[in-house]
Amino acid sequence: MIDTPHTAEETRPARKRARSALRNALVLGATAALAAAGTLTALTGTASAASTLATAAAEKGRYFGTAVAANRLGESDYVATLNREFDSITAENEMKWDALEPSRNSFNFATADRIVNHAQSRGMKVRGHTLVWHSQLPSWVSGLGSAAEVRSAMNNHINRVMGQYKGKIHSWDVVNEAFEDGSSGARRNSVFQQRLGNGYIEEAFRTARAADPNAKLCYNDYNTDNWNHAKTQAVYNMVRDFKARGVPIDCVGFQAHFNSGNPVPSNYHTTLQNFADLGVDVQLTELDIAGSGSSQAEQYRGVVQACLAVSRCTGITVWGVTDKYSWRSSDTPLLFDGNYNKKPAYDAVLAALGGTGGGTGGGTGGTGGTDGGTGGGGDASCTVTYEQTDRWGDRFNGRVTVKAGSRSISTWSVTVTVAPPQKISATWNGTPSWDSSGNVMTMRPNGNGTLSAGSSTSFGFTVMANGNWTAPRLGNCTAS
Ligand code: XIL
Repeated sequence: MIDTPHTAEETRPARKRARSALRNALVLGATAALAAAGTLTALTGTASAASTLATAAAEKGRYFGTAVAANRLGESDYVATLNREFDSITAENEMKWDALEPSRNSFNFATADRIVNHAQSRGMKVRGHTLVWHSQLPSWVSGLGSAAEVRSAMNNHINRVMGQYKGKIHSWDVVNEAFEDGSSGARRNSVFQQRLGNGYIEEAFRTARAADPNAKLCYNDYNTDNWNHAKTQAVYNMVRDFKARGVPIDCVGFQAHFNSGNPVPSNYHTTLQNFADLGVDVQLTELDIAGSGSSQAEQYRGVVQACLAVSRCTGITVWGVTDKYSWRSSDTPLLFDGNYNKKPAYDAVLAALGGTGGGTGGGTGGTGGTDGGTGGGGDASCTVTYEQTDRWGDRFNGRVTVKAGSRSISTWSVTVTVAPPQKISATWNGTPSWDSSGNVMTMRPNGNGTLSAGSSTSFGFTVMANGNWTAPRLGNCTAS
């Protein structure tokens, strides 16, 4: 399945998994809902709350993936955790150049195919990682003497690999880690840079677009999280230039390997939003955070919240299933420990995604505007309640619960009006449309809007406060 870009005006339809999560959630009952409620000011008895990372993320219109190593696919606990929690897979090493084309024009897809087949058989997406990278590059490439040889090898590699997986990859990391660390903002001195100069990156993207026009094409890098860093600015300027000149790029991957030397920056949301504002999706592609306990959990929570606050942040991938197989195992940077137990970081991520298993993220302040208005034709009716679920320095999340009256309803709609200069920057679990001012959002169901008598569903949104913390006003709920 291919993602379509979405903006505040347009969110993606709910996936099947989200709908089944919603159905499961309806039987969880009020106790679990209350446990997850945190700062809710109103509750309508039943609530939607997914219980896995993938289903919770899907309810927010995102995927939740992990890196996978093919040689672990025989371990039952590994596979059980993978299949239960994730709906996207990245091959941790198996799609890198040295694995796929160890000698010139001799391709070996067998191991990567195992990963793709596993994903496809479970209805999971696959991220392609990665086509052009200085590392895990076989020595024969670096040994090529001329620009023409490197160009031909690069384009051939892209064509053959993307051809093999055409239609099966939702996003490709076309070029990985092409910029230097530190304050220079310079291009990394790779064999591609040396032989082909600055133009190799756009050439790789143009070749990739032709090879699989339906795959999203990403530039992927690390240490690009802090908006003030030279490397972040250098990548931003490249993407801005690509968009201005029509070079085909659809997404920017933020590897998001965090530790004490590279902590989650306080301006992370700004970075993601600024890139998204260039007209590309952003994805967290290799997330891991060194640490343990509540400190690690809070950092994970912050990262997930930053993604959710950006409507074009379309998915999160953690770089492995379990700490014991992490590339940085001694940092214990993942969501499951070596015995596949859920860590506090897992609970924090699930809660931040709106699932069960933890609080909702410590939002404070703000009174929930409540409007019990009813309306609609015949006996069909619904009521709506609002609650603020999270609050940060610059924005808050709201949740509107729609409850059917004493008759079942087949669809509903409700208006949410924000007070300028407030702006709704993201929505989930509903299909919004907007008036010309952009202040009045009419929300309708994602797909099937059926609610049985007395049952409820909810949708959410992020309001950029711009200094105004007033709760949004709800219009009457109409139902038929
Ligand atoms: C890492 C893998 O996790 C390791 O198993 C391998 O030995 C080295 O590469 N940036 C990337 C990933 O884009 O491909 C890297 O993965 C981690 C850093």
